[in-house]
Amino acid sequence: MEIIFASNNDHKIREIRSIIDSSIKLLSLHDMNIREDIPEEEPNLEGNALAKARYVHRITGMNVFADDTGLEVDALGGLPGVKSARFAGESKDFSANIDKLLLMLGSNKNRKAQFRTVIALIWENEEYLFEGIVEGQIINERRGIEGFGYDPVFIPDGKTRTFAEMPLKEKNEVSHRARAFEKLRTFLLQIKLNGNKP
Ligand code: IMP
Repeated sequence: MEIIFASNNDHKIREIRSIIDSSIKLLSLHDMNIREDIPEEEPNLEGNALAKARYVHRITGMNVFADDTGLEVDALGGLPGVKSARFAGESKDFSANIDKLLLMLGSNKNRKAQFRTVIALIWENEEYLFEGIVEGQIINERRGIEGFGYDPVFIPDGKTRTFAEMPLKEKNEVSHRARAFEKLRTFLLQIKLNGNKP
């Protein structure tokens, strides 16, 4: 079974390859020679994930999925949310994004936040959405060098280390993306069992 993951983020592709069944061949945008930056202009994660999946489906006609993730911070009314990548500007600078987040939170005692991933799948011209959430806390200073994005300042509930202090395997046990992809994986396995029918 072949499916395109509409992403060029090597971190994510590595994460997903380590989660998804090895009988499913995951193709990246790079593998498909799709070089353009797909627009992410929708007002929510669902809209962006669907827009990316539809864009690649239009070009290739193949089964495809796309994801969009946001960090939703309670005390900031859900920001940065859908703006997570470009929170501090178009350069998508992870470090500048964290600086802005910590500045806006200041000494606020409410550090509650969640990562939320939405996956849009187009399978045989039908659209499906899957969601994964991990709740946690934003800490005041960076800790750890693993991962990417806001990982150095996010401690998932039930853990004492940030995502950036964890090996990928441990992050995958609880992460938003892993939870959403587990739902996608279960769906794809079911499709395989049903002879490629949902
Ligand atoms: P994307 O939609 O997956 O590209 O995510 C948008 C932005 O959210 C990224 O640029 C990161 O800043 C942040 N983000 C997404 N996933 C993670 C994660 O697993 N850890 C930390 N930050 C993340």
